[in-house]
This record gives sequence, C-alpha cells and structure tokens, in this order.
Amino acid sequence: MKRLIQNGTIVTASDTYKADLLIEGETIAQIGQQLAVQGVDEIIDASGCFVFPGGIDPHTHLDMPFGGTVTKDDFETGTIAAAYGGTTTIIDFCLTEKEKPLHTAIEAWHKKAAGKAAIDYGFHLMIGEINEAVLNELPAIVSTEGISSFKVFMAYKHVFQADDATLFETLTKAKELGALVMVHAENGDVIDYLTKQALKEGKTAPIYHALTRPVEAEGEATGRACQLASLAQSQLYVVHVTCQEAVQQIAEARKQGADIWGETCPQYLVLDESMLRKPGFEGAKYVWSPPLREKQHQDALWKALKTGALQTIGSDQCSFDFAGQKDLGINDFTKIPNGGPIIEDRFSLLYSEGVAKGRIGLNEFVDLVSTRAAKLFGLYPKKGCIAVGADADIVLFDPQAERVLSARTHHLAVDYSAFEGMRVKGTPRTVLSRGKVIVRDQTYVGTPGEGAFLKRARYGELWTNDLVGQR
Ligand code: URP
Ligand code: ZN
Ligand code: ZN
Ligand code: ZN
Repeated sequence: MKRLIQNGTIVTASDTYKADLLIEGETIAQIGQQLAVQGVDEIIDASGCFVFPGGIDPHTHLDMPFGGTVTKDDFETGTIAAAYGGTTTIIDFCLTEKEKPLHTAIEAWHKKAAGKAAIDYGFHLMIGEINEAVLNELPAIVSTEGISSFKVFMAYKHVFQADDATLFETLTKAKELGALVMVHAENGDVIDYLTKQALKEGKTAPIYHALTRPVEAEGEATGRACQLASLAQSQLYVVHVTCQEAVQQIAEARKQGADIWGETCPQYLVLDESMLRKPGFEGAKYVWSPPLREKQHQDALWKALKTGALQTIGSDQCSFDFAGQKDLGINDFTKIPNGGPIIEDRFSLLYSEGVAKGRIGLNEFVDLVSTRAAKLFGLYPKKGCIAVGADADIVLFDPQAERVLSARTHHLAVDYSAFEGMRVKGTPRTVLSRGKVIVRDQTYVGTPGEGAFLKRARYGELWTNDLVGQR
C-alpha cells in the first residue's frame, strides 16, 4: 500500500518546510517536492495542515487498579481517544507487587493491552523493592522484553512507596543495564503525616488533598532523587513536575552536568489549585498527585519548558468517573482516586496554550510532544520524527480549527472532562499509525488491537533495525 500526503507543511523538532511525503507500507519512503503519483493507492490532501510526527505520550495509566477501583479507561478507549488527539504511541506503567515475580506483572499488562490497543505502546516497569529475585529478573526485562525504563514512587506510603535504598539501588542497577529511572517525587512520609493531621482536624474536603501535599514535599523529594542519581552516576527522569521548587532542583542538577530530565503535564500548565475549591464535591475531579498548584507555578513551568529545564509533556492519563469512583472519597479526601482524563487533549492543549499563544515555538512543540520522549525512551528514530525509514506515524493538524473541549464530545469512557468548556485552537484532523489511516477527518476508522507492543532500545542507544525486527 502506497500513500502520498500532499500540500502539507512538515514540522519536525528541527525544521519546518513544505513537501510531499510518500508512505510505503508502514514506513516513510520518500520526502520531496511534487512526488510522482503513479502507483500511489491513496492521496491525502494536507492543504492548510501541519504534518507532525505522531505524539508520544510517555506517561499513561490505562486499566490500572488504584484505591480500590480501576481506571475507567482501558487500553481500548484510552488509545482510541489518544489517536483522536494526535498521539500514536504511549508508554504505560506496569505496576508490580512486592514478593511477586516482576514477570507476572508484565504478563498481566500484556494481557490488558493485547487485542485492544489502537496505537503502538510500550511499558515502564514499577520497582517497589530490590532483592535477589528482582535483580535476577531485571537484565532480561531490559534486553529481551524491551522494557528499558523503571519507575520508583517516593510517595503513596503503604501502597507504592519505595524507600531511598530501593531508589538508590534501582539507579545503580539501571546504570549497569541501560535503563532510565523515573520517579514520582513527593515526600510520602511527610504527606502521610500531614494527611493524618488533617483528618484528625476534620478536614475531609478535596482541597485538603492539595494542602497536605505542599510544594516543599515535591521540591525536597525531587532534590533528593537528583542527589541520589548523581551519587549513582545514573540517569533520572522526574515525572509530572508541578512547581518552581522542583524545577529549581532539576535545573541545578543539570547545570552540574547530571543526566536528569523532567516532564510536566498539561493540567499543571493550565489548571490551578482553586479548582479543588469548587462547590460541593466538584473539586474531586481535579485531584491529582502531585496536586494542582497556585497559579504562579504555571509561569515557572512554561519558563522551564522554554529554557529546557523540563523537556517532555506526559499526560498522566488516569481517569476515574466522577459518579461512582471519585465519590469513594466523598467523606475523606484520602479516598478519592487520584488522577484525571487527559490523554486525548495533551497534544491540542500544548499546541493551543503553547504555540498559538506564543509561549513555545512550533519545533519546540514537536520536541516536547513527541521527539524528546522517543529519544529518552529508546524509540528514536523509528518514532518521534519524520524521516525516510521512520514509522509513518503522522498527524495532519489544522492550526486554524477551533473547538471546545467537553465530556460530551471526547472519546474517553470517563464521565467528565477536567477541561470542560475550554476553547482550543488547532485540532488533529487525520492520523496515521504505521502507514495506516486510523483517524480520518476526525473519525476513528482503525481497529482496536492494531497497536503493537514496542520493544525499546536501552537508554541512550539508537533504535536499531534488529529491534524493529523483533517487534
Ligand atoms: O494523580 C495521579 N498522578 N495519578 C496517577 C498515578 C501517579 O502518581 O502518576
Ligand atoms: Zn515475558
Ligand atoms: Zn505519579
Ligand atoms: Zn502517573
């Protein structure tokens, strides 16, 4: 099958230019001016559109058990919504359980995704403890299973939280194996103390979720993780950075030459702590960990994206219905399942609030939404770029179209939108995943299950043809 994309403006992390793009099968075969139409099966007109590499969302939680319930969106609804939103690759967090083989969790995650995913996907592996069994399993997980990133939680005491020794050993091992260690950086012990105090004082409303997870707890944990990574001479990626205090720690460590990266999420760029004070229980819709911050932190985050202190945008997609799931915490904010729906809007929100408002450039946008994640997570140059030989994961994006975000029109299963009523400029029109049109003129035309599991290269290694063969 040959497809030709004509009349578009190709935008990569480095260049913007008008050219045609020929796709043969799953990959990009040619880029050039007025490419021949002979033998082409389908011509796609991209007039007025940017031709972007498909978005890469390095942070999703689909079909994930949490707080006595399971996320509303699974690998089918979540990845279809992602495709509508211009994302063609996700990396989801595989949660492990202590004293159980890591492999059990990996197999469980494969089962959740197989036959359902509409776009390509990889897994990060949560590390909750380090012992002989874990150390024995890890090398093959990186080299054979293609899971080259680990996740350590410094918060969620008694649930996911690991201690500093576990984090340090994970960093050390990751250095040896060529994996990137990701941290949820909040001081879980202090948060545990503060939440118990709040409940004792009868403070049960959603806003206390934010007030018991102060910026200092995030800044401290971020700094601690940076120091431990430096001590281990390892590589670190801080997920969902929300505040100036954490940005400062990352920027300082990078200035010292540490191999440290930071991600933020659209919710922290456009929403703020006041949302948790909405009347009644409405604030529960905006319960994320770390929490939404006071408005001035948004400026700090935009500045960090602009100056390169933060380099990626994850969604942290983790959706729970307002009715029937979030309300588990109606009498106690600690029981509100954490997280929100965002996988579909990540790409458009960053474009609209970032590019259209002049905060970031077009090429910076591509780097943030796609290319940098491909490089950090062992997918580049197969993913995250428009180049001959790369997978034809492509988004035709109409920068002039405007629309209003709403639960009435989104494609997630969850019953609310955290961005209800927000007007965005620019929208993905047509999306290709490995050469196949999966969204045509804003209608999903793919088949769930077409998404493939991605075995990723080791940290810092280029994606090689050998690995493509194994996919
Ligand atoms: O509130 C959040 N972020 N929920 C998802 C789990 C996590 O901490 O990333
Ligand atoms: Zn396996
Ligand atoms: Zn987290
Ligand atoms: Zn998360």
